[in-house]
Amino acid sequence: MSKITVKTQPIAGQKPGTSGLRKKTPVFMGPHYLENFVQAIFDTVGTVGKTFVLGGDGRYFNDRAAQVILRMAAANGAKRVIVGQGAVLSTPAASHLIRLNKTDGGIIMSASHNPGGPKEDFGVKFNMPNGGPAPEAVTEAMYKRTTELTEYHILEAQDVDLGTVGRHALGDMVVDVVDPVADYADLMESLFDFDKITAMFAAGFRMRMDSMCAVTGPYAVEILERRLGAAKGTVTHEVPLPDFGGMHPDPNPTWAHELMAEMMGEGAPDFGAASDGDGDRNMVVGRGIYVSPSDSLAVLAANAHLCKGYRAGLKGVARSMPTSAASDRVAASLGIASYETPTGWKFFGNLLDAGNATICGEESFGTGSDHVREKDGLWAILMWLNILAVRGESVEAIVKGHWAKFGRNYYSRHDFEAIATEKADAMMAALRASLASLAGRKLQGMEVSGADDFSYTDPVDGSVSAKQGVRVNFTDGSRIVYRLSGTGTEGATLRVYLERYVPGPDGLDRDAQEALSPVIAAAHELAGIEAFTGKVAPDVVT
Ligand code: G6P
Ligand code: ZN
Repeated sequence: MSKITVKTQPIAGQKPGTSGLRKKTPVFMGPHYLENFVQAIFDTVGTVGKTFVLGGDGRYFNDRAAQVILRMAAANGAKRVIVGQGAVLSTPAASHLIRLNKTDGGIIMSASHNPGGPKEDFGVKFNMPNGGPAPEAVTEAMYKRTTELTEYHILEAQDVDLGTVGRHALGDMVVDVVDPVADYADLMESLFDFDKITAMFAAGFRMRMDSMCAVTGPYAVEILERRLGAAKGTVTHEVPLPDFGGMHPDPNPTWAHELMAEMMGEGAPDFGAASDGDGDRNMVVGRGIYVSPSDSLAVLAANAHLCKGYRAGLKGVARSMPTSAASDRVAASLGIASYETPTGWKFFGNLLDAGNATICGEESFGTGSDHVREKDGLWAILMWLNILAVRGESVEAIVKGHWAKFGRNYYSRHDFEAIATEKADAMMAALRASLASLAGRKLQGMEVSGADDFSYTDPVDGSVSAKQGVRVNFTDGSRIVYRLSGTGTEGATLRVYLERYVPGPDGLDRDAQEALSPVIAAAHELAGIEAFTGKVAPDVVT
């Protein structure tokens, strides 16, 4: 086994986005592509004598990439790498293992909810010793390193047997292959009242969990069916596949349509849930009622104290800026702080580490708490189950009761996908240029009260993140937010976030798209979406 140093050249475009570096799989499989980026990670964070966690969502190329990363870790002087069996770990489970073992961080191979396969997406990201995604200063340093690299180090060696749990040697480095599920399932058991949930299932409560042929299958079967006694077959699409069985593993009403059809149909189960490629996202659905992620965050915040791990109450609630203000109302009524961060889970890390917030959430189907430093799909699903078990009411009753108490933030996100980057940039530039003149403008019977480009100053470390999305507020409390996605791999994706608050008691029960129709029309008019992009309607509505 010898260590070799390979000459390379910088490869353009290795700039991490909202959540790590994501590219089409053939790009990642191209000469030196993965190696360059991994070397940049190791050079940035330092490798000698360090211990890392490694795992991925099992998508195509996950197994090969893991072997390369291990050989590079060994050649760069790492002491030990803890790898999920089969090189698989859900993102929240990886975050937990980093924290549990007090490691120096970890590398997660995933493109999250993006499809997988030889022609689809792949991704690599680095998580810090706190278990959370590297902050911008670190990812910028990694990017800078990719622009100056001239060589990388790798061991010439046989593949490590990642199929069997146990200890292996790779050069001077130790590779510990661990059960990907056990520690994570124990953590969940420490946070939630498994006895109450078990009793609810035993009394006939029915659930459907759609793992979308992605990483959560084994986790969900272990926790829901084995530990909590849900009926066998509760978890569907439970076998993870390298191409996710052709599914688009994004748990939203568009892509989790099988689950939606079942939950809206005759004889629907009591509760439905889905998670994404790497297990950090979740969607929850009641019988006949879809729960928007923003509402889900608010309901979880309002009821968290009913669950074992959160009985002492919450320190604060954080949400990303485009997420609806529903959770702010809960925080205000609980007398705790609420925080508004840019899109990207990494922005919650400091708030969680500093003990400012306990629960966080995003409109993009992410919810989580201070138990790890990633959003956590199964965690959110289990918290819902715990609340349902304690309250003994249906999802519909809980959600409608919530609106009756706090009012309803009607909410929707419209995505316009695969737009030519220049056109999307031109639209955003025009919007930004118009910001100062928008106040007072009347459209669709509403009046603009103010508009700005969201800039965030981290209350913990003072770092500033500017240009995080254009916000247009109206005098009636409605809001439109425009931003370009930082996770897409094909052209640009324009996200338009639409919100309208209705205090109740009347008008709480409308269809969201219908209730938002003036806001939607105003959004098109203000930004000239059709003129710039040629699109009259969104590709995905959530
Ligand atoms: C990932 C990130 C989230 C983010 C989401 C959407 O899931 O972890 O924090 O909200 O992507 O990001 P985007 O930039 O595509 O809107
Ligand atoms: Zn994900």
